[in-house]
Amino acid sequence: MNEWNSRKDEALAAIAAAGTADAVEALRVEALGKQGWVSQLLKTLGRMTPEERQEKAPAIQAVRAEIADAIAARKQALDDAELERRLATETLDLSLPAPETSRGSIHPVSQVMDELAEIFADLGFSVATGPEIEDDWHNFTALNMAETHPARAMHDTFYFPDKDAEGRSASSSEAVSRKERMLLRTHTSPVQIRSMVEQGAPIRIIAPGRVYRSDSDATHTPMFHQIEGLVVDRDIHLGHLKWTLETFLKAFFERDDIVLRLRPSYFPFTEPSVEVDVGFEVVDGRRVLGGSGDAPGHGWMELLGSGVVNRRVLEFAGLDPDEWQGFAFGVGVDRLAMLKYAMDDLRAFFDGDGRWLAHYGFSAFDQPTLSGGVGARA
Ligand code: DAH
Repeated sequence: MNEWNSRKDEALAAIAAAGTADAVEALRVEALGKQGWVSQLLKTLGRMTPEERQEKAPAIQAVRAEIADAIAARKQALDDAELERRLATETLDLSLPAPETSRGSIHPVSQVMDELAEIFADLGFSVATGPEIEDDWHNFTALNMAETHPARAMHDTFYFPDKDAEGRSASSSEAVSRKERMLLRTHTSPVQIRSMVEQGAPIRIIAPGRVYRSDSDATHTPMFHQIEGLVVDRDIHLGHLKWTLETFLKAFFERDDIVLRLRPSYFPFTEPSVEVDVGFEVVDGRRVLGGSGDAPGHGWMELLGSGVVNRRVLEFAGLDPDEWQGFAFGVGVDRLAMLKYAMDDLRAFFDGDGRWLAHYGFSAFDQPTLSGGVGARA
């Protein structure tokens, strides 16, 4: 027997009787806290002779362990009891009717992104993502836009102030290497680079997301949405690109008479590059996609940019262009949504007006599925 055994028994009794988590915590502090009596006891070990310490240390440690175990057990018991109590008292009446008008809706941009993911998943594409705060190298250089490349000027880039490695603003004399210069990504194309670097080849991805440019009018907002597509494999050619785009657009617009026109174009990251137009017809003053744009009363509308991945881009991403080829495309998601759901002002997308959302938004139950028609409205 020793002088602290009765104190221990008292503490154990108090712990067993504690009715709340707070009471248990107070008892813990009293015994095991920095100033607690068990902690004080432990401190006395330091002042003992080695022989005395050898004799007393196990007993003191045992007291500490016993009290700690009792506290843990009591806390658990109180938690369990609380959970039992809540399970017994809280009920959910599943027979209650749903509210008459549903609150909230899925934004058309989200809905269209889900539709696109569904269509491309069926073609074997997975969804890839990348950061919206991107570095210069991924956004430009690795996409074959060297620092002096004129195409950079077309992007109206939002740059961050230069920072040195420690995050301090860098003066011009200690200019940060251009590679590390940070910006808001101006397109989803840097996700091509990140995906190839991370996953290698073969690869089949789409990358939907927000992009930013310093531009604002009826058809441009400083933030908008794009979806990028990338396929890298052996012997990939323009035919694969055309078939993929045709299949995708027919599924998306739910029309078999979608006709595409490929026009030669230029993007630094593709060679050859093609601009893809889609045929439309004017019905009641509105453009409706379908049919050849060359037919009387029809026209062509520019829809997306694409091409065969430039050899230099594959090299930047660490792939051997003699072994691997690819195609890529980039398209504005907001524009796809406007065309499909007949909305005419892009700015309304980002106003957060409840009336607009109630009108153009989708029900959360309206999950796009290929079997149900990706655009079916509930
Ligand atoms: N990144 C281009 C833009 O934002 C769009 C684009 C064009 C993406 C051609 C591509 C492509 O992948 O092959 O203007």
